[in-house]
Amino acid sequence: MAQAKAALAAGDAVAIPTETVYGLAADATNGEAVARIFAAKQRPSFNPLICHVTDIAMAEAFATFDPLSRRLAEAFWPGALTLVLPLKPGHAIHPLVTAGLETVAVRAPKGFGAELIAALGRPLAAPSANRSGRISPTSAQAVADSLGDAISLVIDGGATQVGVESTIVKVEDDRIRLLRPGGVAAEAIEAVAGQTLLRAETGAAIQAPGMLASHYAPTARMRLDADRVEPGEALLGFGPKRIEGADKAAAVLVLSQAGDTVEAAAKLFDYMARLDANGAACIAVEPIPHDGLGEAINDRLARAAAPRPETGEKG
Ligand code: TXA
Ligand code: MG
Repeated sequence: MAQAKAALAAGDAVAIPTETVYGLAADATNGEAVARIFAAKQRPSFNPLICHVTDIAMAEAFATFDPLSRRLAEAFWPGALTLVLPLKPGHAIHPLVTAGLETVAVRAPKGFGAELIAALGRPLAAPSANRSGRISPTSAQAVADSLGDAISLVIDGGATQVGVESTIVKVEDDRIRLLRPGGVAAEAIEAVAGQTLLRAETGAAIQAPGMLASHYAPTARMRLDADRVEPGEALLGFGPKRIEGADKAAAVLVLSQAGDTVEAAAKLFDYMARLDANGAACIAVEPIPHDGLGEAINDRLARAAAPRPETGEKG
């Protein structure tokens, strides 16, 4: 804690555990510190970052809560819900954090991150602590594997509890738009808000610029909703029953034998990375239901399977 606090106060970027995934954190009011995040991640700088706070009171120093956003923060903070809110005039958040937008994405994490922000007394800008376009890390080892010597300090808090990134929503005229499915199920938000969520339209990339079609990409190709394993493929399974050809797969990891999407979310990125490291050219993925955290899991899998911009490769 002391080392992390000193490094952040000195304008350094530090990889820290949160309950969702590991974040690469820097003082959100210090432009040079935030620039170090982009440098380490090799991330396009038009992509805005989430500001992490201790609570609503800290967020109110720079963002405005409408009544519905406040209700959601009260229900889900600290936790895996990010709210996109209008910035207040005269706020101290560096424009590099928001990519010049007039809104800011804010969430209050649990655990070490929360204690660190309280100790520092400032919001922390933190994207997931992976190289841009790669799988989000759910362990300190995965951070080290992805960012290596691009960063000087990784805080090891063990495996993250939730395993997928936060859910991102934005309130527009008393309606809630889902910008990114994540660690809080859409159904849970709908229950608190008493309304159904508006889903991202085509072109939602403009709303959440980080939501590139190809994202979270392992080196291997990904083949979703597979009903059989082709020769040479590795298998990412879900539920009690394996598909045809599973016995001949190059490697098999099952996200949840019991068919539990919460358990599967917690293991998703770790298992994708492990199967990838195994060296198969393609990972077949068994069908995963779309309810609860299944929505976030299927979203991440679809991005991992999308054509890659670097190679133009299909599948
Ligand atoms: O669980 C999480 O959310 C993790 C942990 C570290 O907190 N963070 C994370 O950050 O996933 P990142 O930077 O990988 O994703 C942030 C997402 C991006 O899709 C970005 O485009 C979107 O938030 N975002 C940030 N500011 C926004 C804004 N003002 N309006 C719309 N989307 C925004
Ligand atoms: Mg990310």
